[in-house]
This record gives sequence, C-alpha cells and structure tokens, in this order.
Amino acid sequence: MRGAERSAGARGEKCPPAAATAAAAAMALLHSRRLLAAPRLAAAASRASSWWSHVEMGPPDPILGVTEAYKRDTNSKKMNLGVGAYRDDNGKPYVLNCVRKAEAMIASKKMDKEYLPIGGLADFTRASAELALGENSEAFKSGRYVTVQGISGTGSLRIGANFLQRFFKASRDVYLPKPSWGNHTPIFRDAGMQLQAYRYYDPKTCSLDFSGAMDDISKIPEKSIILLHACAHNPTGVDPRQEQWKELAATVKKRNLLVYFDMAYQGFASGDINRDAWAVRHFIEQGINIVLSQSFAKNMGLYGERAGAFTVICSDADEAKRVESQLKILIRPMYSNPPVNGARIASMILNTPDLRKEWLTEVKGMADRIISMRTQLVSNLKKEGSSHNWQHITDQIGMFCFTGLKPEQVERLIKEFSVYMTKDGRISVAGVTSGNVGYLAHAIHQVTK
Ligand SMILES: Cc1ncc(COP(=O)(O)O)c(C=O)c1O
Repeated sequence: MRGAERSAGARGEKCPPAAATAAAAAMALLHSRRLLAAPRLAAAASRASSWWSHVEMGPPDPILGVTEAYKRDTNSKKMNLGVGAYRDDNGKPYVLNCVRKAEAMIASKKMDKEYLPIGGLADFTRASAELALGENSEAFKSGRYVTVQGISGTGSLRIGANFLQRFFKASRDVYLPKPSWGNHTPIFRDAGMQLQAYRYYDPKTCSLDFSGAMDDISKIPEKSIILLHACAHNPTGVDPRQEQWKELAATVKKRNLLVYFDMAYQGFASGDINRDAWAVRHFIEQGINIVLSQSFAKNMGLYGERAGAFTVICSDADEAKRVESQLKILIRPMYSNPPVNGARIASMILNTPDLRKEWLTEVKGMADRIISMRTQLVSNLKKEGSSHNWQHITDQIGMFCFTGLKPEQVERLIKEFSVYMTKDGRISVAGVTSGNVGYLAHAIHQVTK
C-alpha cells in the first residue's frame, strides 16, 4: 500500500474512491514489484542466457589451500610443510649454482627464440634418456627408444596418458599405488583412461605393504597398465628395496603388464642419480619395455621452467621411429612444441662435464639436507620425551614424509602451532630447517602424547 500511496501522492491526485483506490493500489503494487523484481529478473535472465550458467564452483586445490591458510597466519613461528618444493636451510627457495652458470652461458651465446621441433630439443631429450637409462644401457645404445620433451613431469605424464589412450589397445585400466600423487588420477582420467588401484602403503607400520602389493599386482588382469614411482614415492616416501623391486619386476613380467614409471625425483631420493634409477634400469634389463616420464623440477630446481621428458622403450629402432612419428602427431595440436628455456638449461648442465659434476654435488647436497632433517626430527622428538616409534621418518626417503599423524592431530598442529600440512599427515621435509626442527618436534609431541 505504501507504494500506492507514494505513487498517488507523487502524481498529486486527490484521494480516489474505494474501488479505484483498490485498483490503483493493486496496479501500483504490481508496478512496484515489477520494479523491484526487474534487476533480479534481469540478472537471472542474463545468467540463464549465459553459456556457463551450469558451471558450478569447483573445490580449491588441497595443497594450494594449505599455502593460502599459511599466508594468512601471523604467527612468527609458522611453518608451511605442504608445498613440494625444496627450501635451503634458511627456508628459502634455492637456485642451484650449476643452473645460474648454465643461464649465464646461454645468455652469453645470445641464442635466438625460434620454435623448438615438436619433440623438443634433441640434445636435451638424448641427455634425459641417457640420465634415466644409463650410458651403458643396451636400449639406449641401440636406439630402441624414443624420448620427447614434455612440459615438466605433469605434461610428460599427460603425453604418455594420451599416447596410451590412442595406441594401447589391450586395456583402458591404469593401476595406481594406493595412495599415489594426487594429480595421477586426473591426468589419466582426463586422457580417457580408467583408474584402478593396488595396495602399497600400510598405515599401521607407516611402511610398504609389500605382501599386499604383490598380492594385488599378481591379480591385475594381463595386459593392463601399472604405474610405479621410480623413487621417492609421493606422498608416502616409501620405496621398495632392491630385492623387492626384483620380485615386483618378475610378477609384472609374468602378468604381461605395461609398466609406466614416473620418475620425478631422480637423484633427490638418495643423492645418487644411478641408485635412484635402479628400478627403471632393472626392469628394462629384464626385458620389460617400459614407458617413462621424467621431471627436472626437483632435481635441478627448475620448477617453473617446465622441463621434462616422456620415453617409450620399443622392441627395435624402427618401432621407435614409428612411435616417435605418432607422438609428434599427438603433441602438435596440444601445444605445438615445448618451451625452450628450461630444456636449454637442463641440456647445458647434462652435456657440459664441469656443470654436470657440479650438479651431481648439488643434488646430493639437497638430498643429504633432507635426510639430515629426518634424523634431526626424530632425535628432537626423543628429546621432547616422545615414546612413539618414529623410525619410519628416517626409513622413508625423498622430499615427503608420511608422518602417520591423524587428521585431528593435523588440525591441532595447524590451529595451535601454525604448522601447516595436508590433512593426510604428509609433510614436505624440504620445509624443515635446523632453525625450526626443534619447534616442529615440540608441536608434534604436544599433539601425539
Ligand atoms: C610423483 C610425481 N610425479 C610428477 C610430478 C610432476 O611435477 P612437475 O610437473 O612439476 O614436474 C610430481 C610433482 O610433485 C610428483 O610428485
């Protein structure tokens, strides 16, 4: 009614008879509602007419979510153990000296910025294959392999996943360890593959469930695909021992499975590039023609440079040529050709003897710092008076440690101590330093005693 009064008043009319008043009031009400509803209707109409009105808000990335919460925290003792990037003992991002030197050498050459070939920088792909397979590898020397450059480990996995989708006719099923790196599932799923799982980690012992894994793997239907982490399993830090790898290789061979090795941490696990590539090389020596993705993000600290490679071991050089031709056909409409800068840096390091030597020392330095942080964390937990068995922290290897902390303990660590990590209790040991390891041990002890 107030709308009616207002509109009658606004027109300067005298008080109208009752019927007219009612009609006018109704009209005015309608009018006012229409006026009020108009913007809402317009918004809804424009939403309905949008191409994307059906797009729902997606969940945030769990790891980036941890970093966001960490950034907002004002506690001066806060720690971010969520991110998977190396930090030096001052907690700072680390650019390797060999990388700085390679960059200077590249800059001094004043190279052009022309496109790379579809398969990438040849000096880089050859050196990547040699790094993974070993210079004495029969597969490498005979040329029965093809390696293409990929957009770091993720992009190389995606090329591999798409290649399997197009050419591996025997099966769609990819068996992942339980758990596996969170991005494996979407990478293979988005490429049109189906995900399955095999047992891998035993939460009771915080170590490898080897009998469970063997049991599951021996039942995988023949000619399926199995994904194995070559070293420094992410997220658990749990790797098979060499005798266990041998048994795994024998079973995989018996089941005639296609093995997909993901090697994102060569050199980063033990500090020795050959030791970390042992499983990959052993499988090939056993006559298992694997496919392989490599990343130079961690072991050369080239995260944002996106240098990686995808390799297929073939039965002979002729097959390798045919596979290469198809990989190029697959890559061309995806991104045409890969980025040049990271591949130049990695290639310069791998192909220049002095730089390569320096790199091997530096990658060992990073691995050793992580190993030493594991030892210091355990000894600090003992000093705090913890009576739990923390041996798994030193048994596990690589950047990540599956602490065995429960979600409610993780929540307390975040709320009460500003120690940030993913809900599954995974910590990036690279985020631990001699300056904060004592605080971390104290915090863990407080929530686990
Ligand atoms: C197991 C595993 N594979 C692949 C990658 C790929 O990393 P990027 O794409 O940065 O090379 C990662 C990175 O965390 C990883 O942990």
